[in-house]
Amino acid sequence: MSQIAMLGSGFIGRFYADSIQGQRSKDKIVSIYARKEVNAKKFADDYNCEHFTSNMEEAIAHPSVEVVCIALPNNVHEDAVMLCCKYKKPVITTKPLGRNGAEALRMLKAVEEAGIFNGYLEDLVYAPKFLKAYNSVKNGALGRILWAKSRETHPGPHSDWFWNIELAGGGCILDLGCHCIEITRTFIGKDIKPLEVMCWADTQVKPIDAEDHAIGLIKYENGAIAQFEVSWTFRGGMDLRDEVMGTEGTIWINNFLRTGLEMFTTGKGADYVAEKAESNTGWLFPVGDEVNDLGYNHMFTEMFECMEEGKEPRETFYDGYVVNAIIDSAYKSAKTKLWEPIQLEVWRGQEGLSKQSNLTDYDEDNYLIKEEVTHYGAKKVILKNKQTGKIEEKILE
Ligand SMILES: NC(=O)c1ccc[n+]([C@@H]2O[C@H](COP(=O)([O-])OP(=O)(O)OC[C@H]3O[C@@H](n4cnc5c(N)ncnc54)[C@H](O)[C@@H]3O)[C@@H](O)[C@H]2O)c1
Repeated sequence: MSQIAMLGSGFIGRFYADSIQGQRSKDKIVSIYARKEVNAKKFADDYNCEHFTSNMEEAIAHPSVEVVCIALPNNVHEDAVMLCCKYKKPVITTKPLGRNGAEALRMLKAVEEAGIFNGYLEDLVYAPKFLKAYNSVKNGALGRILWAKSRETHPGPHSDWFWNIELAGGGCILDLGCHCIEITRTFIGKDIKPLEVMCWADTQVKPIDAEDHAIGLIKYENGAIAQFEVSWTFRGGMDLRDEVMGTEGTIWINNFLRTGLEMFTTGKGADYVAEKAESNTGWLFPVGDEVNDLGYNHMFTEMFECMEEGKEPRETFYDGYVVNAIIDSAYKSAKTKLWEPIQLEVWRGQEGLSKQSNLTDYDEDNYLIKEEVTHYGAKKVILKNKQTGKIEEKILE
């Protein structure tokens, strides 16, 4: 059982609370901090929480609190983390870790120097469909991973501060790209070094300083490539999709729209449908159990178990830092229109990998390019001669 201080009573603070105190969980939020006391009190009433305050330090220092969960706007993460270090309280924080790599690095160094448990709450690598797909990838069902793509697009965030580039630290690349980058990085292998980024970004619709639409590519040292697609201008709800392609297979995941639950209503009795749904009439795509389907349950279970057992969770501040460093290069590339190297002052994975060979032996003299059975029943192989390089097809009997 864990006793938690929740910092932030807004959108994600409440999703987290629904997960932490959901089902028959024994974990308990014992202290809630919000900027306005009235909001802290409302949260305390809703979640039966013994202590509420509009003083962040008081929530962190509260004697019943064993772990602090940061669910605050991006510009407040660092202050909150530093206070957790001061009181040596284990800390788990929402995404993105920082507004940029420098902020994230300071937080990483601070928690490690303080010697406190640290977890990065990237829920989408704990989503049930992701976990199933990831296990298949780990077990080799897709062979060598060549390309991983993740897309998160919706009509834009729900609070004012997200739209202020100073407070948020960026636009949809930082807000949504952080998810996509960690998803694709996990499929490719978190010990494989990300080398450089090419990114297009633009402000196509919203009257803001940050980007509201972007597409990026990330090159990895072993030759794999990741792709992210993010938007705050997408219409039609929240589109959360991942694709992975390997030498032996492919996976497509649709986490949110078109999940298999489809419903039509004229609007009578219409209610909340799903996060960022734009309509509650007509054809709808409700989500069975958002808290579970978005990975929050699996994420908190792993975080608290690791904390209790003194183990490192799958996602730590180090991962948050790597994601922030990749995003810094994406912003740079969007300006320079060039492939921009990723600056990783701290790197704990493999170094010096080269691209793997793509030569498959067919026989002593030839490499195999492809084999196929045609619609007219011919079994063909297409071969490349090892000596001459000549490409020829052969019909097999
Ligand atoms: N899937 C996810 O992982 C996910 C989803 C949404 C948001 N988030 C992240 O959660 C964090 C909070 O986002 P949210 O959507 O809950 O925001 P929100 O605006 O709904 O809530 C913010 C909360 O922080 C409190 N707060 C404390 N200090 C503040 C300050 N100086 N300025 C503004 N608010 C302050 C507010 O009282 C409020 O309770 C952000 O870092 C965001 O990126 C993560």
